[in-house]
Amino acid sequence: MADAEKPPYPGFDMNKPSIARTYDYLLGGKDNFAVDRAFGDRFINDLPGSRQIPFDNRGALIRAVRELVTTTPVRQFIDLGSGLPTADNVHQVAQRYAPEAKVVYVDNDPIVLAHGRALLAENDNTAVIQADLRDPKAILDHPDTQRLIDFGKPVAVMFSATLHHVNDDEDPAGLVRFWYDQIASGSHVFISHFRSENDPRSQELEQVLQGSLGRGRWRTDEQILALYGDGFTVLEPGIVPSAEWRNPEAPDDLGDYQRLIATVLAVKD
Ligand SMILES: C[S@@+](CC[C@H](N)C(=O)[O-])C[C@H]1O[C@@H](n2cnc3c(N)ncnc32)[C@H](O)[C@@H]1O
Repeated sequence: MADAEKPPYPGFDMNKPSIARTYDYLLGGKDNFAVDRAFGDRFINDLPGSRQIPFDNRGALIRAVRELVTTTPVRQFIDLGSGLPTADNVHQVAQRYAPEAKVVYVDNDPIVLAHGRALLAENDNTAVIQADLRDPKAILDHPDTQRLIDFGKPVAVMFSATLHHVNDDEDPAGLVRFWYDQIASGSHVFISHFRSENDPRSQELEQVLQGSLGRGRWRTDEQILALYGDGFTVLEPGIVPSAEWRNPEAPDDLGDYQRLIATVLAVKD
């Protein structure tokens, strides 16, 4: 292993690919190790076209944050399973349009905390918490959440490409319900999610991810919408491929893999 490949902080597992680091690699970032690149190359080489999934997902996330701060009263974000790619993260997009916007990033991968501390060194309106999104009470009670988020005002809770990493027996809908119970009316919940469409490619992808990480669920549109439960209104255009979500520049014909990631935004009634 080259010197540059030594773990920079304790807690990094160099022998197992990490979701955050592989995602970073697929997006062209540098916060990844050989094990992540080898895993990412399986998608690039064996399932050509699947690499578009992270790009479409990021595009929809960026459009959603921009829309939230420019067309709704939302000025605070809880970004659950944030990753921290190199550019256009939630705080960068939100604060571009609303400098006062507050963002709490949450991720359980230590690389996100390490990168986040550098990225956020001089940003008092933004914090990064290392926590497991399956333990929402710890996130709610965290001093940074309590300092930055006013739950009396509208919040956007972002589940961007994360709930598909919560397996069925871990109750992903229960996580959405936890945050529903905390947030004010007019708050929004954003979900992007692997979308099965009963397409055999989604089964192939699921097998690769589950086989290596034990996570990665491709759910149907109905199953994804059911994660919201009652008390939400799904906003236009409903649940659609991420590349098409509020994207005037969407191509007329999506690639096959582009149908396998969906985006949806809903507001608490
Ligand atoms: C596919 S990336 C998505 C990153 C970003 N939200 C986006 O949409 O571009 C998934 C992220 O969720 C994080 N994640 C997965 N499971 C998690 C968990 N149980 N708790 C906290 N973070 C988690 C991973 O570490 C990774 O950074």
